[in-house]
Amino acid sequence: MKKSDWERVVEAAMEPASDYLASLPERAVYRPTEPDEIRGVVGGALSDDGVDPAEVVADLARDLEPYVTAHASGRYFGFVIGGLHPAAYGAELLAATWDQNAGLYAVAPGVAVAEEVAAGWLLDVLDLPADASVGFVTGGQMANFTCLAAARHDVLRRSGWNVEADGLQGAPRINVVVKTERHSTVPRALRHLGLGDSSAIEIPSDAQSRIDPEALRRTLEGLSGPTIICVEAGNINFGSFDDYHAVADAADQHRTRGNPTWVHVDGAFGLWARASRSLRHLTEGLKRLDSWSTDGHKMLNVGYDSGLAVCKHSAAHRAAMSIQAAYLVQGDGGVRDQMDWNPDFSRRARGLGVYATLRSLGRSGVDDMIAGTCRAARRFAEGLAASDRVEIVNDVVFNQVLIRWHAPNGDDDGYTDRLLAAIQEDGTAFFSGTTWQGRRYMRISVADWATDESDVDRAIAAVLRCSEDVS
Ligand SMILES: Cc1ncc(COP(=O)(O)O)c(C=O)c1O
Repeated sequence: MKKSDWERVVEAAMEPASDYLASLPERAVYRPTEPDEIRGVVGGALSDDGVDPAEVVADLARDLEPYVTAHASGRYFGFVIGGLHPAAYGAELLAATWDQNAGLYAVAPGVAVAEEVAAGWLLDVLDLPADASVGFVTGGQMANFTCLAAARHDVLRRSGWNVEADGLQGAPRINVVVKTERHSTVPRALRHLGLGDSSAIEIPSDAQSRIDPEALRRTLEGLSGPTIICVEAGNINFGSFDDYHAVADAADQHRTRGNPTWVHVDGAFGLWARASRSLRHLTEGLKRLDSWSTDGHKMLNVGYDSGLAVCKHSAAHRAAMSIQAAYLVQGDGGVRDQMDWNPDFSRRARGLGVYATLRSLGRSGVDDMIAGTCRAARRFAEGLAASDRVEIVNDVVFNQVLIRWHAPNGDDDGYTDRLLAAIQEDGTAFFSGTTWQGRRYMRISVADWATDESDVDRAIAAVLRCSEDVS
């Protein structure tokens, strides 16, 4: 390809990309569609002769963009989906351009060092131990998997078993202890690790979905052998935080009775409370635990996909993930080979977005961003509480607001779903629903640096308008 051929491709992508980014403050955030409509636009038979690359890119930008969900809009409050910080965006463009296979230092040294630096900054901003290890993975799911793989290695090693060499057949049984209100990616990670999801012991949670530490303590008293405990920072529905000192105390007592024990924290979004002086108190005692998973693509506003697996015990992390092959050129300990810390072999330079965002924001910029999302969540709760149909169910301590709608005709669940659909059709904002203890709720999640007070006020107005129209 000549330079001018590359330029045609870059132009085909970048002109519509700039237009798209410029449209974010005003464009509808979501367009409900039938899949066949999209298939009709981008589908069809694969041609024999192919199509010019710049034409493919121009067609894709024109045809698919109407069906793109504006996650990076300040008015997208669905699931827990972060926006796109400009520094992260620029870094992703470079990552795509450089097309690095970022698995080994020897293959792509520049990005290996950038990830090493980003890992150090991450531990600094989250106030986690400076010698903890970090894996840059695809998301919270794989961060939970990676940390729990390290946990499995560690508790079995302390029980005299090498799980990497000998697998689980004949291994000492691991007690897995989880909250009733865990995120679904925790049982999925347990499944991937051969530990099973339904065999985990459930500890009840309180009315704000925080683990009951007394029940945990009592349960541990009845268990012996290797034990993995999973708690959370930021419950998906309530945005609540567990009592980490109480959990750490219970784990320490269990260890004292001779049981190898590891406590993992699923902190996909809530771990970022540690980056804010006004919110850090929510995570008191969390540093006493053993591993922490979080996302770059949620509260940090790095582009998709970006997950972070952090382990206090780096040797366990490395033992669970590392790989040897005769043809690989691996570092001697003085450099970071990413494949020692994440489950991938070949991978893109995923950590560049974290590097760029942290460097651009600095410590106080991250603090302001996290605190800003939580202020916006409180503004939502205050603004919507004005409606007599709204019940704010959770203590809004972080970025999540959980709402029970009370319908004029008493059909609260049906009304909630019809209202969510009407808001999505309206396009001003997007919220998702959830089922908790058999009832339907609306959930608001603020996780975008771009959300300002006017976005929140426009979204509240749209919700209240739709709530009057829906019956
Ligand atoms: C508490 C919690 N854990 C794990 C996850 C999964 O994260 P990801 O979607 O990045 O895999 C989520 C996603 O919202 C979450 O809220």
